Amino acid sequence: MKAIILAGGAGSRLYPLTQISSKQLQAVFDKPMVYYPLTVLIASGIKDFCLISTPQDLPRYQNLLGDGRQWGVSIEYRLQHRPEGIAQAFIIAADFVGSDDVILMLGDNIFSGGDDFPRAVTGFDGGATIFAYHVKDPERYGVVEFDRDGKAVSIEEKPRHPKSSYAVPGVYIYDNQVLEIAKAVNPSHRGELEITDVNLEYLRRGKLQVRRLSRGFAWLDAGTSTALHEASSYIEAIERRQGIKIGCPEEAALVRGFLSINHFETLIDCMPKCEYSEYLRGVADEWHRLQGEKK
Ligand code: TTP
Repeated sequence: MKAIILAGGAGSRLYPLTQISSKQLQAVFDKPMVYYPLTVLIASGIKDFCLISTPQDLPRYQNLLGDGRQWGVSIEYRLQHRPEGIAQAFIIAADFVGSDDVILMLGDNIFSGGDDFPRAVTGFDGGATIFAYHVKDPERYGVVEFDRDGKAVSIEEKPRHPKSSYAVPGVYIYDNQVLEIAKAVNPSHRGELEITDVNLEYLRRGKLQVRRLSRGFAWLDAGTSTALHEASSYIEAIERRQGIKIGCPEEAALVRGFLSINHFETLIDCMPKCEYSEYLRGVADEWHRLQGEKK
């Protein structure tokens, strides 16, 4: 399965921060926001990435992430000239997707806890899989309605009167039909190719699976300055309490076996002395300790 990270958009709700750099490059506590979705995807076993952003910001992502080789993955880049909708990602990156299944993740969605995504990726067997998460303010999102048996029966984009409290987070897994479905979607009244319309088409075909994310799972969106601050505080609190970092692509790549321990340690050697590199040094020490135990 391939992955698309969508990291464009106007970021107008984060003005004036987005005058300096793209929303998904802003700091969420101690890392750039895009590290979080990237890490979740690496931890799910994805090796082939395409990152989509604006003409202004794309070079910044290329500087930060390179071709992904340092983490044992591959990252390609594509431009979205105007924010014409999330579903446009499949038109822009059609050549990248080729004949594969694909997972699309929004660059400003931050997740923590649980193994829901790795399981969904491993267990994916066609159609579409999306997720549902209980929120207090569903009217801001795509909202899923379930029937008595827990089967999804409708999805509405930003409804005035939501039919449930379950919002759809920015992670969507599709089979290759998505390329054809996205091409056939018409722009909505706000002039965007809506991802909800893609999901509705899968629902119409009887091929949409909606998985509810578990209670302990955190889904944070960092679209406003208040939400960004809250996301930073949340990550800081968890990291401080557990002594484990969330959103380190290097660590996920090591755990997933994309990087050897030697390569991992070489990466650390190239980093300045800072909390981040000290943390990774601790991960390497722990790795050696566990290897010693195994002998
Ligand atoms: P939004 O939060 O809907 O939009 P935005 O990021 O442009 O923010 P604002 O409303 O403050 O102007 O987008 C959700 C995510 O999807 C975000 O990561 C940006 C991305 N996106 C694109 O990359 N291209 C698009 O055409 C759209 C609509 C969103």
